[in-house]
Amino acid sequence: MESEAIAQMRQEKYNATVHGLNKVHSDLMMIRIRPDKPIIPHKAGQYTLLGLGNWEPRLPETMEEVLPDTDRSKLVRRSYSISAAILEESGALGNNLETPYLEFYIVLVRETSSGKAPALTPRLFMLREGDRLFCGEKITGAYNLDLVKPTDTVLLLGTGTGEAPHNFMLQQLLRNGHQGPIVNACCVRLKKDLGYLPTHEKVMARYPNYHYIPLATREPENAGKKVYIQDVIRSGDLEKRIGRELDPASTHVFLCGNPAMIGVPEKNRETGEYSYPKTEGVIEVLEKRGFRADRGHHDRGNIHFEEYWS
Ligand SMILES: Cc1cc2nc3c(=O)[nH]c(=O)nc-3n(C[C@H](O)[C@H](O)[C@H](O)COP(=O)(O)OP(=O)(O)OC[C@H]3O[C@@H](n4cnc5c(N)ncnc54)[C@H](O)[C@@H]3O)c2cc1C
Ligand SMILES: NC(=O)c1ccc[n+]([C@@H]2O[C@H](COP(=O)([O-])OP(=O)(O)OC[C@H]3O[C@@H](n4cnc5c(N)ncnc54)[C@H](OP(=O)(O)O)[C@@H]3O)[C@@H](O)[C@H]2O)c1
Repeated sequence: MESEAIAQMRQEKYNATVHGLNKVHSDLMMIRIRPDKPIIPHKAGQYTLLGLGNWEPRLPETMEEVLPDTDRSKLVRRSYSISAAILEESGALGNNLETPYLEFYIVLVRETSSGKAPALTPRLFMLREGDRLFCGEKITGAYNLDLVKPTDTVLLLGTGTGEAPHNFMLQQLLRNGHQGPIVNACCVRLKKDLGYLPTHEKVMARYPNYHYIPLATREPENAGKKVYIQDVIRSGDLEKRIGRELDPASTHVFLCGNPAMIGVPEKNRETGEYSYPKTEGVIEVLEKRGFRADRGHHDRGNIHFEEYWS
């Protein structure tokens, strides 16, 4: 596309500016987006859309995209959970609900196995402070803290950038003076993928009811003995950390990220019965222990989940 046409498309389609950018490493970033309009009221755990035009450049060394010319002028949009820095730079507990920007935690998908090139992240990773993009005006999602009571045990269990909504939820739980234990476990490939680790260490030192459990599956010392989130529950290590048994009557579990970790049971349309996926996910581990996952908006259990892809 001609540069004048691109400038016009940007003017028409974009409604937000990159306010801040923190690259944890080449493939992982925290990005703060400031929408032109005031941010609508929202809840910790929810998500919105980010978008860039197909006319924008892609990061080199990412999967090649084959795009018909007719698609060149289209806007690509994807969902992103709202994250939080948790603490302010001063070290005080932050309040995301009052900032003029939204923080996101995004991993670069360099390639896919489907043969279809990832459309958005290779473009998002070209952004710099001050650049323009699309940010959804609607913030939505039933993945939130509505059902949690102040003395409940809260388990925030994520893989990779699935930690994003949990950071915002943690901030709000602490702001509300949550009294029950809060466990935040995050499973990543490599330690360098634990982008918020230093913050969690600070928060743990200050709040005795907060426990962060980082798991890295592909570090050389873990070769042949990967520990997934399911394993931390099965082994009883998670309960040891909080010093009490998991009681389904007073515990809410939040699962976010890789669908294989979550393991959503599938409903058989004819029989109405549910069956678990072949590989055991956290839902199966916990339902065997008296927990129950949400089966829709009107049938809520004590396990809530957000799958990042299907
Ligand atoms: C409700 C919701 C919230 C989301 N929040 C986030 C978020 O906070 N941060 C984030 O990085 N992504 C998030 N995602 C995923 C995001 O929407 C995009 O799919 C992702 O950024 C890749 O976009 P893409 O166009 O580059 O590739 P796509 O074509 O969308 O994805 C290609 C493949 O990449 C893999 N993939 C996608 N997202 C991830 C991921 N996060 N981690 C590991 N592998 C992945 C999957 O195998 C997927 O099939 C969320 C998805 C949903 C549905
Ligand atoms: N992280 C990186 O440095 C890196 C580098 C290059 C490209 N990428 C790309 O970035 C994208 C995201 O990668 P990601 O590492 O953030 O997310 P991810 O692939 O979902 O992995 C996150 C964590 O989930 C674990 N996991 C996988 N299957 C599981 C299961 N059945 N149950 C429980 N846990 C499970 C992974 O362990 P395993 O070790 O078993 O996978 C890993 O520890 C991918 O497209 C990837 O190709 C990432």
